[in-house]
Amino acid sequence: MDHFTYRDGVLHVEDVPLPRIAAEVGTPVYVYSQATFERHARVFRAGLAGLDRTHLAFAVKANPNLGVLKVLAREGYGADVVSVGEMWRAIAGGIAPADIVFSGVGKRRDELEAALDAGIGQFNIEHEAEGVALAEIAAARGVRAPATIRVNPDVDAGTHAKISTGRKENKFGIDIDQAPGVFARLSALPGLNLRGVATHIGSQLGRLEPLESAYVRMGQLVADLRGAGHAISHVDLGGGLGVPYRPGDVMPTPAEFGAMVARVTRGWDVTLMFEPGRVIAGNAGVLLTEVLWVKPGAVNPYVIVDAAMNDLMRPALYDAYHDFVAVRPSGERMIANIAGPVCESGDTFGMGRDIDRVAPGDLAIFRTAGAYGATMASTYNSRALVPEVLVSGDRYAVVADRIPPERMIAAERVPDWLQDA
Ligand code: LLP
Repeated sequence: MDHFTYRDGVLHVEDVPLPRIAAEVGTPVYVYSQATFERHARVFRAGLAGLDRTHLAFAVKANPNLGVLKVLAREGYGADVVSVGEMWRAIAGGIAPADIVFSGVGKRRDELEAALDAGIGQFNIEHEAEGVALAEIAAARGVRAPATIRVNPDVDAGTHAKISTGRKENKFGIDIDQAPGVFARLSALPGLNLRGVATHIGSQLGRLEPLESAYVRMGQLVADLRGAGHAISHVDLGGGLGVPYRPGDVMPTPAEFGAMVARVTRGWDVTLMFEPGRVIAGNAGVLLTEVLWVKPGAVNPYVIVDAAMNDLMRPALYDAYHDFVAVRPSGERMIANIAGPVCESGDTFGMGRDIDRVAPGDLAIFRTAGAYGATMASTYNSRALVPEVLVSGDRYAVVADRIPPERMIAAERVPDWLQDA
């Protein structure tokens, strides 16, 4: 069931017509459906129902909005965080520190300290020196930090190069061949409770095979570590499941994913941990925008919208496709390029697209913008930071304000030596 539907020719998010949000909050604006977040959270959990012991941690980077985190906390999700900033958000959103996993290749010492003091549930250590530092910090406090080592299994995820993380040459994790030695050395340190291994090979995966290859390697590693006398109670299998962006895209379902995991991990006897981000958040949000101009182009007209690459970076960064549809489609179509106001040719959402015919003043949305959308926004060209709205039934709330340029200017200083007399 979809919570983004046309009623009487007008696109609604749950029971709220999008023109109402545009009129009351302005555009561009991200609009999320709470019911869709809840549904995705439940479908993902249901897909893993065949597994004995699981821990689900929402990848906060996908959508760190407090309102969204609150919804996922209520669904019983923990959090996967990559900075202390994300950790504080998760805690503020109602996620228990013990259910938080701290990943990331560049954790600072002060972040390790803060996370330890907050009592987070697990550190995924990305390299040996980080493990040594964490052990020292924990030992100085008289505690043992619960941890895994993140392993790079050298598997090609088959996704965009910029979001692949599990090849030998990527910066993430410990080379799987080095993992037994690193595990043995770190597990001897008194400040660590090294209890398992973690992996994450990439994002927006359209096939299960790369995940399966990675998990098979992790299973062999678990067996080898146990053979060497180590106790392994936790294996973190990361995130990565893709979502459909284009009409007709077919992606593995959480049920298919869960069946594969059950098959591959049979007999592991561990708590399996998961870090889904996009699969929960991607299709739970849209970016609502207004058409400013329709400008003639050399080949096709340019539909210039008031959202830009600073609001939704994915097309500029990864050539990502986001479906574009009118809020009140007339039934007529046009072939057009879709672009934003930012002064870069990369500020283009699509070229030569077959879209609903739109005119200046019309509202439209970019679909599948709930993950890696608002969170990657910037204020480039001194544009306002884009706001976010959460809908639930016939209610909505602004869950992140639009930050106008005045507020950004107020946070800047002209040094005293440049002040006019
Ligand atoms: N766990 C770790 C350690 C990760 O690095 C990531 C994503 C996830 C979990 C969640 O992956 P997901 O289930 O969402 O695929 N900005 C890019 C995506 C970057 C993903 C980074 N890591 C984009 O817009 O496509």
